[in-house]
Amino acid sequence: MHNPILQLKEVRFRWPKQSTDLLYIPHLSIQKGQHLFIQGPSGSGKTTLLNLLTGINVPQSGSVTILGNNLAQLSNMQRDQFRADHLGVIFQQFNLLPYLSLVENVLLPCGFSKRKKANASDLQVTARDLLHQLNIPTDLFNKPVTQLSVGQQQRAAVARALIGNPEIVIADEPTSALDSNNRDRFLELLFQEADIHGSTLIFVSHDAQLAERFPRLVSLPELNQAPVLST
Ligand SMILES: Nc1ncnc2c1ncn2[C@@H]1O[C@H](COP(=O)(O)OP(=O)(O)OP(=O)(O)O)[C@@H](O)[C@H]1O
Ligand SMILES: [Mg+2]
Repeated sequence: MHNPILQLKEVRFRWPKQSTDLLYIPHLSIQKGQHLFIQGPSGSGKTTLLNLLTGINVPQSGSVTILGNNLAQLSNMQRDQFRADHLGVIFQQFNLLPYLSLVENVLLPCGFSKRKKANASDLQVTARDLLHQLNIPTDLFNKPVTQLSVGQQQRAAVARALIGNPEIVIADEPTSALDSNNRDRFLELLFQEADIHGSTLIFVSHDAQLAERFPRLVSLPELNQAPVLST
């Protein structure tokens, strides 16, 4: 068995004013290429969990180890750099910058990571190739992203997450605005692109219907051993 690409051990996290843990994850490990679907209802802590995986938040105890690096042992700056170098993130709200063009948005991560920049060789060509593979019409490439449809913005966010071949791509509920046909096409593209670029996908959603397409499914309420908060 290879070393896992990502491993959580005895992770406990609560938000500052909470008196009990929101998440207690005794153990989770993910192998390279083993695309993982994490399902859980709204408010169950999916985005919070992803923020622990990306090092945006740090657990009160336990370890998050990615590619052999325990994130808690890195400084804040090192963690930011680690994220920029090794992860691609598709945010729940896409987080595209409205005053930049489509291609500029896709290239943003290369400005924060020499590693991604080196992997992308000719930046313009790589960005355009990715957008072509994602079926975005060429005449949109230099338009501001505000002129794209929601589905196109979603694919722009995918291109931005994949550029520079990060080892892990993390996607936070990226299909919620799509109808079921487009959702299937979107997932197909995401798998295809992740496989081409050698990235392992970690995808969270409340929508259990998406799970069947993934080789591995984890239910967050089952994974999470924190006592259920009574509200
Ligand atoms: N920045 C924050 N400060 C304090 N509490 C927070 C913060 N972000 C989230 N929470 C709380 O943590 C819990 C889990 O929220 P989270 O956003 O992780 O859920 P989710 O599963 O991603 O939900 P959704 O499916 O609606 O996106 C919620 O009770 C929420 O109120
Ligand atoms: Mg969320």
